[in-house]
Amino acid sequence: MSELNKIALKIISNGKGILATDESTGTMTKRLESVQVPSTSENRLSFRETLFSSSSMKNCIGGVILYDETIKQVSKSKKNIPELIAETGAVPGIKVDTGAKVLSNSINEKITEGLDGLRERLKEYYKLGARFTKWRAVYIISEKYPSKLSIHSNAHALARYAALVQESGMVPIVEPEVLMDGNHNAEACFKKTSEVIKKCFEELFFHKVELNGTILKPNMILPGTNSGQKIDNKEIAEMTIKCLKESVPPEVPGIAFLSGGQSERDATKNLNLINIHNNTNFIMTYSYGRALQQSALKFWSKNIKDVENTQKIFNHRANMNSLAAQGKWTEEIDKV
Ligand code: G3H
Repeated sequence: MSELNKIALKIISNGKGILATDESTGTMTKRLESVQVPSTSENRLSFRETLFSSSSMKNCIGGVILYDETIKQVSKSKKNIPELIAETGAVPGIKVDTGAKVLSNSINEKITEGLDGLRERLKEYYKLGARFTKWRAVYIISEKYPSKLSIHSNAHALARYAALVQESGMVPIVEPEVLMDGNHNAEACFKKTSEVIKKCFEELFFHKVELNGTILKPNMILPGTNSGQKIDNKEIAEMTIKCLKESVPPEVPGIAFLSGGQSERDATKNLNLINIHNNTNFIMTYSYGRALQQSALKFWSKNIKDVENTQKIFNHRANMNSLAAQGKWTEEIDKV
């Protein structure tokens, strides 16, 4: 078993998943201001530290994705944040892309940047304790999108990123996110997501990326938010599994879904059904941002000093998702 494969399995095995707290300062500011909390670096750390010191970290969280600001911060107990996370048994990770920018010659689409100087930044993050990384590409769906240009250029960047990350001794999370926005149906999401993922693996293969030391972070197959299509959760699970079975090479050890704007409950329920019907060898787990943090953030915003009850809310969501990652979640258990 390679070192990278060991790290990947440590992050996603045994009902564990990933806590994505890698919101850029801009995104975190939007999240905090939406609950009337000023976005100071102290407040950003205080909320995140509350999550990192929760008891569910030990059994439910195999990896935490940090943002550049957080990986360099020091906790109240005077520990470096990666150290605090590693003590819970979770692997510290870091988002290394520098964001999605307008794609030249297809201005409605985005290309993710961050390759310049990446090798040097990776060395620094490794020293700080990171052992895995994340890079997110985004794609929109409409009749003509995603364009071949966006599919090709983002896959190429993801592959160059992944190769550099493995060279530095870390596991790359490859995240091609086909967005939920739009009026497309689930069938269109299936078709476009399949095309996007297949292209990513074509490029990863071409760049000689070690697939068993890689984690894929895809979207689930869902109808567009404005489509009005009614589809049951079982169908979502089955389409998601079919798409991944047909597009992901078997060497990849695991798939950690993004929540992408689904409600906390839907993200858990869909993951649970995916695991109940999983007829592949892939580990299927979570790498959730909003779907793990939303309720905890809402409570915390009104009770900034109440660490214990904020953690209770986070622990509940983490436990529910851990059960879902094993196909053991039920509506009854999730009642609070
Ligand atoms: O890149 C996306 C985040 O890491 C996951 O966030 O679960 O809120 O979509 P989300």
